[in-house]
Amino acid sequence: MNVSVIGGGYVGLVTGACLSELGHNIEIVELDETKVARINKRDSPIYEEGLSDILNRHTGKRLIARSDYNGIPDSLITFICVGTPESEDGSANLNYIISASQSIGKALKGSKKPHTIIVKSTVPPGTTENIVAPEVIAHSGRPEGTIRFGMNPEFLREGRAVYDFFHPDRIVIGTNDARTFNEIKELYADLKAPILHTSLVAAEMIKYTSNAFLATKISFSNEIGNICKKLGIDVYEVMEGVGLDSRIGPLFLNAGAGFGGSCFPKDVSALIRLAKSLGYEPDILSAVMKVNEAQPERLIEILKKHLSNLKNKRICILGLAFKDNTDDIRESRALVIIRLLLKESAEIIAFDPLAMDATRAVFPEIEYAQSAAEALNNADACLIMTEWPEFSSLNSEFEKMKTKVIIEGRKVLKRKDIEGICW
Ligand SMILES: NC(=O)c1ccc[n+]([C@@H]2O[C@H](COP(=O)([O-])OP(=O)(O)OC[C@H]3O[C@@H](n4cnc5c(N)ncnc54)[C@H](O)[C@@H]3O)[C@@H](O)[C@H]2O)c1
Repeated sequence: MNVSVIGGGYVGLVTGACLSELGHNIEIVELDETKVARINKRDSPIYEEGLSDILNRHTGKRLIARSDYNGIPDSLITFICVGTPESEDGSANLNYIISASQSIGKALKGSKKPHTIIVKSTVPPGTTENIVAPEVIAHSGRPEGTIRFGMNPEFLREGRAVYDFFHPDRIVIGTNDARTFNEIKELYADLKAPILHTSLVAAEMIKYTSNAFLATKISFSNEIGNICKKLGIDVYEVMEGVGLDSRIGPLFLNAGAGFGGSCFPKDVSALIRLAKSLGYEPDILSAVMKVNEAQPERLIEILKKHLSNLKNKRICILGLAFKDNTDDIRESRALVIIRLLLKESAEIIAFDPLAMDATRAVFPEIEYAQSAAEALNNADACLIMTEWPEFSSLNSEFEKMKTKVIIEGRKVLKRKDIEGICW
């Protein structure tokens, strides 16, 4: 099928590339010319395992990127994958969605070919029906019913996004008409996964609910971890026992410095804001955010217990990305920690295998090392902020520290002479 994908970021580029691997012809429409040029040069603007190989195989053949919408009428389906960041009041900012919908509408003006628009971005329930569809229809000047709409939420995990595309737990297709459902089902025909047909609004709500539940599991584990720490109990031992219960499961029970990333914080905030706008006080969701926001401060408290005054102390931060295997630093807890340390006038040296360029753009004032060993050299303390597997093999490197204060915000080490945020 000929498919257009609006937005060439983490979701759009991975979706487009993986659909090209399934044999579809993909045009990625991305406003950022630098990203367009990089994609067309097979130089992925983001790091995702396996993505470069796919770009090498299909770019210039089944996959191209461009910055204009002129090719939209030649495709049968258009996916909207633009960002839906957090507004100042916590709600989802739909400006990119509106602008993309208007551009698609204008591009379809005059065309008589059938077209289906599928929203993949995470959007509040009602957005596809009440915002995307009217904007597209109004700007296309086409009669209602000649363009069809659907919602297909994305569940990929950054860093493992290509794997997740080909091995989804489920594919949710929200649409109010059977033809659109069958079209999208056909697009994914080669993937083995349960396909769930829902209403448009249910598909939109499924994505928010999944993210809110996963965030709740993390904050719950952190709360139990904070209690365990006061009791001198290893929360990881506890959660191992808890996770073996088939009603609970072992995933997302890792206590630590809290969740970050481009999705959980903004999606939980948007759901809270939505609930409040409807006159409902979402106590659980508010507590999830409260626990999450307090975790980095706990880490600083523990650090102060060891160093008392942080002024001019050399603090090594290992891990800047919000999780391992990605270069994404959006809402990373490491960034929150850096801000708190700068307030205390600490001297910071940081290392991350993938996320240093992105961090340097936000914090040009701190020092960056070429390796974990270099970052540890002469440090007064070390904070581990990302669960990079390679940090787990660090050992003699810690001997180079000025004082061996090692505090984990993520559990990666197996040493006895360390302290964890919840262990
Ligand atoms: N990143 C994830 O792990 C993830 C997972 C599931 C769902 N989502 C959701 O998917 C959506 C996209 O997230 P992302 O992480 O890919 O964002 P992103 O910021 O990485 O990518 C969005 C891209 O869209 C481009 N863009 C914005 N407006 C445009 C327009 N009018 N026309 C063409 N391009 C435009 C931007 O330049 C940017 O490159 C969000 O709603 C997010 O919540 C993200």
